Amino acid sequence: MRLGILVSGRGSNMKAILEARRNGKLPNVEPVVVLSNKEDAPALGIAKEFGVEAIFLDSRPYKGNREGYDQKLLEVLKKREVDFIALAGFMRIISKLMLDAFPNRIVNIHPALLPSFPGLHAQKQAIDYGVKISGCSVHFVDFGVDTGPIILQAAVPILDTDDEETLSARILKFEHVLYPKALDLISRGKVKIDGRRVFIEDDED
Ligand code: GRF
Repeated sequence: MRLGILVSGRGSNMKAILEARRNGKLPNVEPVVVLSNKEDAPALGIAKEFGVEAIFLDSRPYKGNREGYDQKLLEVLKKREVDFIALAGFMRIISKLMLDAFPNRIVNIHPALLPSFPGLHAQKQAIDYGVKISGCSVHFVDFGVDTGPIILQAAVPILDTDDEETLSARILKFEHVLYPKALDLISRGKVKIDGRRVFIEDDED
């Protein structure tokens, strides 16, 4: 699986994927390029440290033209023969152009138990709502915001003392395990989609 990783910021999930690859835990996943719409994304520097090509693609000239930007992204991805995309803190909505080019081949990680608390500040949403358990979800990307079929989830307790920062940190640790695991399962052909349901086959590892 030739993986393209799309980022906008810190890049800790991207790093977890690159580390898993380095440690031999993603034998079938070859991360070939990291793309950021933000020039100052720390993720770009981390990707280079891992020897992965890191590219800044400015989205500002494409204001109001989502497909125009995605066309550029597609050109870069196709040139590198990317066949699977992981969004890792990529703060843009993916257009139909991209979804059509990578049908069921784009995944995302979200810091809540979907379908609860989609969108921004999911951890704060969960605290404000008063739920006692939140977590993270890896899901296929579809036309909506965090609405696609769910692949894996991990549950994380919310403590009375939590604020957005402490809960985010607790959830993040689980994200860093869950995302590489989901990519490994997909790359080994263990993940089947049936409508909204995703089935994991014979995962003996
Ligand atoms: C993570 O919390 C992820 O779940 C969400 O955006 C954040 C990205 O963090 N989609 P990082 O850039 O991977 O550190």
